[in-house]
Amino acid sequence: MTDSSRIPGFYKLSLDERRQTIAEKSSVPYEQLAQAVASGGLDPVIADKVVENVLGVYGMPFGIALNVRINGGDRLVPMVVEEPSVIAAASNASRMIRASGGFHAEMVESLMTAQVQLFRVPDSNRAIRALEAHQDELLELARQAAPGLLRYGGGPNCIEVRDLGRGDIVLHLLVDCQDAMGANLVNSMAEAIGPRAAELSGGALGLRILSNLCDRRRVRSTCRVHARELLLTRTSSGNSSRPPPPDMAGEEIIDRIVEASRFAEIDPYRAATHNKGIMNGVDAVVLATGNDFRAVEAGAHAYAARSGQYRPLAVWRRDGSDLVGELELPLALGIVGGTLRVHPVAKLALEILKVQSSADLCMVAASVGLASNLAALRALATEGIQRGHMSLHARSIAIAAGAVADEVEAVARTIVELGRVTLEAAEESLHALRRYP
Ligand code: MEV
Repeated sequence: MTDSSRIPGFYKLSLDERRQTIAEKSSVPYEQLAQAVASGGLDPVIADKVVENVLGVYGMPFGIALNVRINGGDRLVPMVVEEPSVIAAASNASRMIRASGGFHAEMVESLMTAQVQLFRVPDSNRAIRALEAHQDELLELARQAAPGLLRYGGGPNCIEVRDLGRGDIVLHLLVDCQDAMGANLVNSMAEAIGPRAAELSGGALGLRILSNLCDRRRVRSTCRVHARELLLTRTSSGNSSRPPPPDMAGEEIIDRIVEASRFAEIDPYRAATHNKGIMNGVDAVVLATGNDFRAVEAGAHAYAARSGQYRPLAVWRRDGSDLVGELELPLALGIVGGTLRVHPVAKLALEILKVQSSADLCMVAASVGLASNLAALRALATEGIQRGHMSLHARSIAIAAGAVADEVEAVARTIVELGRVTLEAAEESLHALRRYP
């Protein structure tokens, strides 16, 4: 945690000033921070050992979300994302939420699921009884497959057996993976218990692999925003650079956000986009900390569809003059092992965040996801996102047109004012700027 994640005017600082500020606030040595981020992350020689057929590495923007307070503690939250406005949006919404005390987050459960597929089972009821009766033996086999985890206080917790019908059953092994994401751990355990499970079931052994629908490892984050905070904005929320129309009261914005939430609750087409806005925040933290974003995405969307209808992961309601939001999703994030062994920026991200545990990191990612959702809904429910989006998008267009240094802002501003956010307009503007500086 940091003394305060509120750093007014941070966005106006130069790159180096921002690095110095975060180094100071996070107590990470400036040289270490500057070297890690300036190197673009992973050394190609290391990358060559991580995956196959490597040519080089691929850079992404690495930034910090501000104003995030979770369970009373302030966090500087590293985010890796290529989409303009995501970091600003999360920071702005977190500032509104902070005024009412910040996020409250918790892990609902912390068990990873590994599956053992058993098929052509002659008598499913008998097989289920046999497997359940031998739970202790199966857990012991699983323990032997990951002795290191036991030393850290984790390990297999229990088994559950599901009957899929027609001679198909699946055994779930539930494992406390402590601070690891746990994919390798639970896969090893599933492979270790597979043959004995098949023997006990009388059927054939199929797949032995984790489930990314890790719904026994869920995180919940909730927040509250007072109506007046929804109006108090400098760069606005979501993907907008303007405050909402002045005649729109905070109370009305609450109603509109609740309506937007209800829309996602009744329409899967909207729910998908609503959840994309949440994942803007979640994935950016997941990526920054070297975690597996494909696993997180797979789990989140499967969980969203668990009722048979694809639904929003976060919902918003009114409580008096407050807007109250709640997000719940399966999340398995590690703070040890995997990419973290080799990636200096992922390591740095964890140092800046000062996370204590996997659960802690999940709470941060979920809270930033909830903030991203609020930011998007607030913008959509008021002025729409396009104007704000365009002014940020204009910067990329300006860079594509060849603008450098201060030219980028100047060209972006001009093409937004012209209402022509196109490459052609940016080239014209840059040409004019260089001719008549
Ligand atoms: C864009 O990246 C995300 C949004 O579409 C999310 C939403 O519609 O809620 C703005």
